[in-house]
Amino acid sequence: MRNVSLAHSIDTLRDIARRRLPQAIFDYFDGGADDEFTLNGNRSAFDSTWIVPRALVDVSSVSLACELVGGAASMPLAIAPTGGIGFGRKGADIDIARAAVAAGIPYTLSSSATASIEQIAEEAPGRLWFQAYMLRDKAWQAHLIERALAAGYEALVITVDLPVGGKRERDFRNHLSFPIHFTPRNLFDFAMHPCWAYGLLRHGLPVAENLRGMRPPEPDVARITPTLGRMCDPSFDWHALQVIRDTWPRTLIVKGILHAADAERVCELGAQAVVVSNHGGRQLDGALPALRALPAVVRAVRGRIPVLVDGGVRRGTDILKARALGAQGVLTGRAALWGAMADGQDGATHALAILRSELERAMQLSGVRAVADISPALLHGNANDIAIDGCSACLPPKH
Ligand SMILES: Cc1cc2nc3c(=O)[nH]c(=O)nc-3n(C[C@H](O)[C@H](O)[C@H](O)COP(=O)(O)O)c2cc1C
Repeated sequence: MRNVSLAHSIDTLRDIARRRLPQAIFDYFDGGADDEFTLNGNRSAFDSTWIVPRALVDVSSVSLACELVGGAASMPLAIAPTGGIGFGRKGADIDIARAAVAAGIPYTLSSSATASIEQIAEEAPGRLWFQAYMLRDKAWQAHLIERALAAGYEALVITVDLPVGGKRERDFRNHLSFPIHFTPRNLFDFAMHPCWAYGLLRHGLPVAENLRGMRPPEPDVARITPTLGRMCDPSFDWHALQVIRDTWPRTLIVKGILHAADAERVCELGAQAVVVSNHGGRQLDGALPALRALPAVVRAVRGRIPVLVDGGVRRGTDILKARALGAQGVLTGRAALWGAMADGQDGATHALAILRSELERAMQLSGVRAVADISPALLHGNANDIAIDGCSACLPPKH
């Protein structure tokens, strides 16, 4: 796709991706649960948070480099895990992982990715995190975690907001299932997107490489998320998480926390970081937008471990706002995904470059020279809402 490098924003990359992808695949990436209140709320929370910039600061040189969960990063951003993205473009997981390594930020591989743990470690050696769902098949779960350890992943990310699949109605309407269940409607949809269809014919249907061979759940041929949900163990609880903490020897990150009391327990359990997240609005509709949940979590954590946040990050100013509310950094799912869908590795690289240059400009226009100087005082009405001395962004993580 020729015009990707001319795209000035993540939304433009999304438009390009939308034109390239069949509606059903685009909707799987883009959609949320039920009425999509939380999906939209993630965005509007950023839109309704206002920056009060400082003037007359020498910003001829600013630094975006920072610490992110115990390691160095070129900016306060990491890639969130996204499963099944090879259905949009062959090799998309590797494209994004390579783009992340080149950009100097951590990459998280989803357990339902279309690339294997070992492939990513080989193709994109860098700061790698492995995301695990808590599967019903405990032997498989242990096997995946052992593989991530053996392949040198520095962190294990446990997702705790998917005890069952969310009700993603766009997928229901589109009859989307993996493996793809062909219907006259989606065959027509696929035929109308020849570039995508050609890729599928040439490379064949991708598979969830890390789940290949796992005892399958009873499939729901017309519904993808209920099938994924049925692989997960709805009885997974704090005790089971403690067992993982006790067996995984490296950094443990808990993703999918919105409640301050849960964040407190994550600290007590001995995790190294928490991700405030509602799964990009794809699980519980009506759940609090992630940015809105962030200040209470930051207060509860009291600087003991870094707090990250994801959901709706599409602009460099979003990263600045999250950081000002006490996050050490943000994760992005769809921003890098739209880049990769638009133009593979180059597109993902371009998406990260857009976020980086927007963040740099936002810092300069706000009168901030270093990431560590982004403080709650930069936000309208929020300076007193979070305990600045407990701001997780300001303190090094404990191990
Ligand atoms: C297509 C897609 C697949 C996802 N797959 C996973 C997954 O396998 N594991 C997980 O923990 N989160 C998954 N998520 C949620 C993301 O990790 C992240 O929380 C969310 O995308 C953040 O919102 P954003 O897309 O607005 O940045 C997925 C999100 C999308 C859009």
